Amino acid sequence: MKIVLVIKYLGSKRTLVPLLTKLLEASGASTGLDLFTGTTRVAQAMKTLGMHVTSLDSASYSKVFGDTWIALDGETANHSELLDAISQLNSLTPAAGYFTQSFCIDSRYFQPFNGERVDVVREKIASDYSGTWLEAPLLASLILAADRVDSTTGVQMAYLKNWSHRSKHLLELKDPVLLAGQGVAVQGDALELTARLANVDIAYIDPPYNQHRYFGNYHVWESLVRWDKPETYGIANKRLDVRGQEFRSAFNSRPTMPAAIAKTLGDVNAETIILSYNNESWLSRDELIEICSKRGHVEVLDIDSKRYIGSQIGIYNKTGARVGEPGAKRNLEHLVLAGPKQVLAKMIESVA
Ligand SMILES: C[S@@+](CC[C@H](N)C(=O)[O-])C[C@H]1O[C@@H](n2cnc3c(N)ncnc32)[C@H](O)[C@@H]1O
Repeated sequence: MKIVLVIKYLGSKRTLVPLLTKLLEASGASTGLDLFTGTTRVAQAMKTLGMHVTSLDSASYSKVFGDTWIALDGETANHSELLDAISQLNSLTPAAGYFTQSFCIDSRYFQPFNGERVDVVREKIASDYSGTWLEAPLLASLILAADRVDSTTGVQMAYLKNWSHRSKHLLELKDPVLLAGQGVAVQGDALELTARLANVDIAYIDPPYNQHRYFGNYHVWESLVRWDKPETYGIANKRLDVRGQEFRSAFNSRPTMPAAIAKTLGDVNAETIILSYNNESWLSRDELIEICSKRGHVEVLDIDSKRYIGSQIGIYNKTGARVGEPGAKRNLEHLVLAGPKQVLAKMIESVA
């Protein structure tokens, strides 16, 4: 299996992928949907198993990942054209612009010498590759390169008090390693789009589970992809529209989340589903089982897992003041499986 590197991402299912891969394989599915795909890790696992995959997320950077690792076929894409473009971008002369000013001087997510590299590469992608098949993989490669030299704990609501060790390395784009196979990447609100997606054998559903909005937590990636150079506010230098209503998700609000989950589970056109949730969410294990039981037989796997690093070491703002307290180190992930009894039996047997 090809190992594709992905960014540090809150709620990413990096550690669950081996288990999910077994479950997906045992289901015998040949078509899959990864709703709320984020980094596309799970969609990638589906694609590697040979499924035709659809990925969906509301974030612009996630669409870039979907276009790169799900929609492009690594077997037919022109690999040498991609590598030539990457090497040309790496050789550009750094030049400070919006990114350096906003995210390296006004805030400290990256060192300015790397911000200047991001600026020149992003301008070149906009001028030379916009609308071409190379745009998405080059942007994905740029985000991965920037993530490798950032100075955060994995969320962009604050940055470290002192520059991280990795931020001192030179930003360098690498081959994003495309995957062979077929797929479709969709950007939009799951509440609006799920019912309209094609029927699949299996759907993996991994919605946000608390008030922390991905749009604000990953505003730097959002702005880097959109390249709309928005005005920013606050110490974290978030996009002004983070404060507005337009990009709010029903899944991030306690009053609207239960109905949003129930609607999504009712809308999804899949024979079998795997719903990811954890014990810090606003819905209890029993409530989730009840919602899922409308889709057929239900099984639940409870997995003890490590929480993301920022919750363990605390987070600091530009002046060095602690703005986040360390929290619990472990939590319980639930995988709720729903669908035909014989399919679920095979899935459970594969991980027993
Ligand atoms: C828990 S994360 C998914 C992580 C993903 N499974 C992974 O391994 O990287 C939840 C995702 O839901 C997306 N999201 C939030 N609200 C959404 C909505 N209304 N429609 C579609 N996606 C949404 C976020 O952008 C985020 O990527």
